[in-house]
Amino acid sequence: MLSREENEILTRVGAGTSMGELMRRYWIPALLSEEIPAPDCPPVRVRLLGKDLVAFRDSQGKVGLLSEHCAHRGTSLFYGRNEACGLRCIYHGWKYDVDGNVLETPAEPAQSDFKKKLRHIAYPCKEMAGMIFTYMGPEEKQPLLPRYEWQGLRQDQVWPVKSYLECNYLQGIEGDFDSSHTSFLHNNNLQNAERLKRDGAPTLEAEDTPYGMRAISIRNVGTNQIYVRTSPYIMPSFSIVPGPPTARFEEDDIRGFRFWAPIDDQTTWLYILNMRNKPFSDEDRMSLRSWIASDYRRIRNAGNNYLQSRERQKSTSYTGIDAVNAAEQDGCATESMGAIFDRSNEHLGYSDKTIIALRKMLLNALTAMREGKEPPHILRDPDQSDFSRLRSIKGVLPAGSDWRKIMEGLGPNDG
Ligand code: FES
Ligand SMILES: [Fe+2]
Repeated sequence: MLSREENEILTRVGAGTSMGELMRRYWIPALLSEEIPAPDCPPVRVRLLGKDLVAFRDSQGKVGLLSEHCAHRGTSLFYGRNEACGLRCIYHGWKYDVDGNVLETPAEPAQSDFKKKLRHIAYPCKEMAGMIFTYMGPEEKQPLLPRYEWQGLRQDQVWPVKSYLECNYLQGIEGDFDSSHTSFLHNNNLQNAERLKRDGAPTLEAEDTPYGMRAISIRNVGTNQIYVRTSPYIMPSFSIVPGPPTARFEEDDIRGFRFWAPIDDQTTWLYILNMRNKPFSDEDRMSLRSWIASDYRRIRNAGNNYLQSRERQKSTSYTGIDAVNAAEQDGCATESMGAIFDRSNEHLGYSDKTIIALRKMLLNALTAMREGKEPPHILRDPDQSDFSRLRSIKGVLPAGSDWRKIMEGLGPNDG
């Protein structure tokens, strides 16, 4: 459990809060490329870390992310005219470029140089793998965006999905480091009662790494066999989870890199960047989004009690909540805690060991930042920023074997 104060520290993400300032030191996802699909298309509203923004794509295809309210007298730029390499406010025609420069103030006298003295809040953007990342921290502290596996893949090998979560980001990402819940919440086959007995209570480990930490779970399976899974937590709020036990690291396996991007203290976007060695077909793409509506909200959500079937809960699955993606069941577990759960009311057991380690790691990162040190995984040297081999690991091995030794060899930053 956390004290009330620690809980506040870890969950508040607005400007001026500790966690908010930590998050602002990293590149984080702001939206999907498809939300602003073409030059001069309509701008969209974006809310990130409690800040209201407008994203637009200019005539040259460059992406801008501006503070929503016009620097003149605050009209929303969402309603603006996206034209000739700039976004123009509809109230008095002030025009901004993607960098926040004020290009025109047409209601001012022709000889006025007022616009030269002004700069609108604009955050830098990088677009890759169908996603747009931004950096909202101090200009002089802007780090490199680390190189992850997905940066080296072709466009047809990546397929990002985003879904809306009606609770604080920490509740969401803690689920990625809670290995034991998979045996319960995601048990979609009650007939397999053996499974619960076998792997409901794994042995857990956690270790700090240069990119954050990794959680390790080890289950006894079969006769004299262990099943090992590792999950990297990547600063500030990203993860890679190993996927279902049935899938192996085959050529065709779909892997997911997960980004938890706080909209504000009470809501979160979960971006899942699906990756595959062979190209995704149109059918794959549709299926990977079949659980999300066109506004990126889950079809099974709190408003409809996640379409839980009590009949299926008796006969078929542990939850009675069908899931194309496990995030649908996770959503019920984490949203139903309330928007920001008061962790001083928890009763943590052995199964929460990796979550305790994760909170400690984040609190340590905040302490380091307060002391003027750089938090983990802030990268400035391109030679040190290659994390393209970072993976989650899973595998069945003979009991008693040294899984680190057997599974190593993937590279220095193996998950
Ligand atoms: S409020 Fe935007 S130009 Fe005046
Ligand atoms: Fe889960």
